[in-house]
Amino acid sequence: MASQYNYSHSGQQEYGSGGPYSNGDSAFIQPGQAWPQRQKKRTSKWIKIGIPALVLIIAAAVVVAVVVTRKKSTSSSSSSASDSSSNQIAAGRFATATNSEFMMPIYPSSTNTAAFGSPTFASNAALAWPSDPFAPTAPNVLTLRPDRPLLIAPAYKWQALPNLIANDPYMNGWNATIFMNASSYYDLPPVVYHMDGDSGILDNAREVKMRIKAFSYVYRMTNDTKWVDRAWAELQNAAGNGSTPFGPDVDRWNSAHFLDVAEFSAAFGIAYDWLYDIWTPDQKSKIVSTLIEYGLGPGVQAYTNTSIYTGWWRTNTTGNWNCVCNSGLTMGSLAILNDDTTGTAKQLLGLTVDNAKSNCAMAVSDDGTWAETANYWYFGTTGHAEMASSLLTATGSHYGLLDTNTNFQKTGDFHMYITGPTSLFNYGDHGPNKFSTTANSMIFYAEQYSQPDYALFQRDQRDAAEPWSMFWYDASIAGAFWNGKALDHFFDNGLDQWASMRSSWTDNDALYVAMKAGMNQGHQTHNDLDVGDFVLDALGTRWAGDLGSADYLSPNYFSNDTQTSDRWKYYRKMTEGQNTIVVDQANQNVAAAPTVKHDSSGTTQGASTVLNVPSDSTAFWTTDMTSAYFNAPSMKRGVRLLNSRKQVLIQDEINSGGTVQWRMHTNATVTTSGTTASLALDGQTMEVSILNAPAGAQFSTSDAVRFNTDVVPPVPDQPNPGVTVLMISLPAGQYNLQVLFNPQWQDGTKFVTPPSVPLDNWSLTSHS
Ligand SMILES: *[C@@H]1O[C@H](CO)[C@@H](O)[C@H](O)[C@H]1NC(C)=O
Ligand SMILES: *[C@@H]1O[C@H](CO)[C@@H](O)[C@H](O)[C@H]1NC(C)=O
Ligand SMILES: *[C@@H]1O[C@H](CO)[C@@H](O)[C@H](O)[C@H]1NC(C)=O
Ligand SMILES: *[C@@H]1O[C@H](CO)[C@@H](O)[C@H](O)[C@H]1NC(C)=O
Ligand SMILES: *[C@@H]1O[C@H](CO)[C@@H](O)[C@H](O)[C@H]1NC(C)=O
Ligand SMILES: *[C@@H]1O[C@H](CO)[C@@H](O)[C@H](O)[C@H]1NC(C)=O
Ligand SMILES: *[C@@H]1O[C@H](CO)[C@@H](O)[C@H](O)[C@H]1NC(C)=O
Ligand SMILES: *[C@@H]1O[C@H](CO)[C@@H](O)[C@H](O)[C@H]1NC(C)=O
Ligand SMILES: *[C@@H]1O[C@H](CO)[C@@H](O)[C@H](O)[C@H]1NC(C)=O
Repeated sequence: MASQYNYSHSGQQEYGSGGPYSNGDSAFIQPGQAWPQRQKKRTSKWIKIGIPALVLIIAAAVVVAVVVTRKKSTSSSSSSASDSSSNQIAAGRFATATNSEFMMPIYPSSTNTAAFGSPTFASNAALAWPSDPFAPTAPNVLTLRPDRPLLIAPAYKWQALPNLIANDPYMNGWNATIFMNASSYYDLPPVVYHMDGDSGILDNAREVKMRIKAFSYVYRMTNDTKWVDRAWAELQNAAGNGSTPFGPDVDRWNSAHFLDVAEFSAAFGIAYDWLYDIWTPDQKSKIVSTLIEYGLGPGVQAYTNTSIYTGWWRTNTTGNWNCVCNSGLTMGSLAILNDDTTGTAKQLLGLTVDNAKSNCAMAVSDDGTWAETANYWYFGTTGHAEMASSLLTATGSHYGLLDTNTNFQKTGDFHMYITGPTSLFNYGDHGPNKFSTTANSMIFYAEQYSQPDYALFQRDQRDAAEPWSMFWYDASIAGAFWNGKALDHFFDNGLDQWASMRSSWTDNDALYVAMKAGMNQGHQTHNDLDVGDFVLDALGTRWAGDLGSADYLSPNYFSNDTQTSDRWKYYRKMTEGQNTIVVDQANQNVAAAPTVKHDSSGTTQGASTVLNVPSDSTAFWTTDMTSAYFNAPSMKRGVRLLNSRKQVLIQDEINSGGTVQWRMHTNATVTTSGTTASLALDGQTMEVSILNAPAGAQFSTSDAVRFNTDVVPPVPDQPNPGVTVLMISLPAGQYNLQVLFNPQWQDGTKFVTPPSVPLDNWSLTSHS
């Protein structure tokens, strides 16, 4: 079943259009007191090439709905640069940097630490949710609460919203954005059916779901029936009853690519449930019949009909497919359960919950890593959180979906640590367009797992503004996610094995380096052959980056993860397309099973957004990645922070039977001179130098294209415009190679030249 992993996608440049949430505008602006803004107007070379139209300005989108007056900080021992001239602290949202790929929040660099206490719930009881008047005492998946909505947003929460929106700056801003988004969708024609090859109609389904959520939300907040009419037009169109054709009438929602069915089922479920009181009996029966015919019926078939393969994701699929499919079917089923005379919804609820527990919930490794990729985490956790939340509100229990995997709660840390100052450590495939897929599962998990830092982190993110947040967010929360958060974290499950190290959680210019080992198989065929791959951020830009997905529609892109798979013939998936060591110009072994070692000074950030990193603060991570190579008796790689986290050392200990190449992909303009390379990007500079290498080792560069000796892929690679490969080409043999990265900080940093210490001897003090 060659298409089983084909997760939709046509616009392969989506991460090349500034990231999933970057429509280039600067969000809403409300009057109020803004934090001091840093003007960052640098333009990456890549952005200039990829999206010349993007307006690179800082969003001055600071909502300051609440201005809390506090006494001047009296703490003189604080290491922060506290703004003692101000006795007014604006409790508001932070602006986002539109020139970072994920539009990262810009935290103030001058601050009173009193505003940033430890993460805590119930700090402001007046903003807590009221208790649920219908909280079921005997949860049963087939016994529903008596009032509607059933899904995610129960009536008592809607009643509390006006007060919360008036008093909480986040909810205030999110509400405004949802209204604005709903208005822009209102003026568009209903989503036009577009079959995108093997990727199906997933984009269509997600877009319909996104719109339905916004229309339904705004109707309930205004009672203006124009939103109901608009939602109805969208539903009718997706049912094939609009003015444009919508798929074959036997299978409009494309069960061959079941994610599409699931997302449409969720959309119809939400519309039915949230607008239940306003639909006419005729509309209700039409929604139910369409949902059963094209959604839940095919769902039962996927589960029970052994002669079809549409339900392949039910078995051994610890990944986003299982979460999204079960979630959509569950939401649709809960929405119509009491009105469904066919028994379809009831039958499905008996299937989806247990299945998601043994598959979806297991997609998180025991270290918290999402087994697919950092980007697929969004799809998987959105499905998981929507399903668990819907079950909780509709029936009173999540039936174990949240705790059958006792390590699931760590996945919020996975997301935080894999988010660097400019964007994700985005190894492997990036996935299709996200539409209503967000990181807002963080806000749900915060409450479910009593991890307030998850919500405090996510609430400042660009994608927080959508309807789920309005019901998942607990506005009684306070504090700063960074307060007490360790700068480093190591993820040790053998499947993943990766390290995250940084110099600050709140400085967009911070140094961040993340490197991975892990296995090259077992990631739902979304990974690359990339043991040893790394990304490096500093000075507000990404110096070493990943290329991301290749074209999902390319032949055999998802065929399998065996050594000879065509997938590994595409440059962006090959070892040479990664930031690691290549031996014999060949791919790594798919059966790699590296080992890792690491240590950290354990440095945590305090309340202040300004962290003065102690001189003994460091971290290192090493991997024996010999098993990833066919012609190398030994191959070890290590990465460590030097000099109060101002410099990075990458060290390779090589014993290779074949030629060796050290490779790193960068958007920078590179100038090489023997053992040094100067990288220029976004008005900043990174100096890179080779230390302790075999005689004659020097930097060179090339375009990010395949070796001309490579096997030809089924279709040509996509170009990688603006990307340069920084390389060191070396002969077979046994030697060490050290590469030192010195970001050119503007603060008078004096660089150190590290001693040469074997990786096995690395310790926290080995380079002091
Ligand atoms: C929603 O509105 C915000 C604020 O205008 C905008 O930045 C964002 O791109 C919109 N999202 C979508 C999906 O239209
Ligand atoms: C939500 O936002 C809309 C649009 O800005 C605004 O008209 C409405 O008053 C807000 N809702 C509440 C309860 O404040
Ligand atoms: C909408 O109608 C409901 C039910 O009549 C009412 O409780 C609510 O206050 C109304 N909301 C608005 C914004 O008019
Ligand atoms: C669409 O039309 C078909 C055929 O008349 C009907 O069975 C179905 O209920 C309609 N669905 C919607 C949502 O209009
Ligand atoms: C199973 O699917 C096949 C192919 O769609 C169909 O012909 C058959 O009727 C289905 N079987 C059942 C029991 O629904
Ligand atoms: C599921 O995975 C287990 C463990 O790897 C294996 O034993 C089993 O055969 C797999 N089942 C199917 C249907 O692939
Ligand atoms: C180049 O920049 C884009 C956009 O920020 C980013 O997605 C990509 O990872 C970068 N590529 C490299 C090789 O750094
Ligand atoms: C893996 O995919 C390739 C095509 O990319 C195919 O030739 C090969 O037979 C497949 N192997 C298995 C085990 O499915
Ligand atoms: C590395 O550690 C080993 C064993 O502890 C020791 O014998 C050796 O001298 C060390 N080498 C260096 C260069 O520090």
